Amino acid sequence: MTASFISFEGIDGAGKSTHIARLHEHLLARNTDVCLTREPGGTPLGEAIRGWVLNQGMAIDSEVLLLLAARAEHVAQVIRPALAAGRTVLCDRFSDATLAYQGYGRGVDLARLRQLCGWAESGVRPSLTVLFDVPPEVSRDRLAGLKTPDRFESEQAAFFERVRQGYLALAAAEPERFVVLDATQPLDTVTAQLIAAVDTRLPG
Ligand code: TMP
Repeated sequence: MTASFISFEGIDGAGKSTHIARLHEHLLARNTDVCLTREPGGTPLGEAIRGWVLNQGMAIDSEVLLLLAARAEHVAQVIRPALAAGRTVLCDRFSDATLAYQGYGRGVDLARLRQLCGWAESGVRPSLTVLFDVPPEVSRDRLAGLKTPDRFESEQAAFFERVRQGYLALAAAEPERFVVLDATQPLDTVTAQLIAAVDTRLPG
């Protein structure tokens, strides 16, 4: 399988950002034309939505619809054009985050969310998704140093356990798309496994 749209997932505090930055450097060093982006975010509208969704209290349906508006904009303005230009897209979270956080975490109906995510994606789907798996106890210790945790980082361990189990269920349902990494291992070990997983799937 080749992959040029790669998404990265995991509960808050899984160490995702550090590993993505290292993978990005690795790909640049091997001259891959790479577009590094994130959700919610990646466009001016998406970054504005990120500020609201992470920091402002709101109804769950508003949260879902704002996240999906950010995704629709991101797909239209960034991801689809990058893929069309033959670039490799590294996306820090995508639709699996909506299923895991809003679906498994907050209890929004999964079938409905899948339908709405399909609308926002409009046919653009990751060919590889890397899940950084850690138990909530580990993520909580890693988040403990944050001065001002956002709305998600402030959630209880039970919420993160539901999100984690949701991610693992999504990975089990699509083993050909997902690679699950044990992110409790030493940082360098996880990065090495990530790079190996991506290198074997990238074209060329
Ligand atoms: P980040 O801190 O990994 O950038 O992610 C921002 C937060 O947004 C994270 O706590 C998960 C949350 N999120 C959702 O709840 N649903 C989504 O669809 C996305 C993309 C992010």
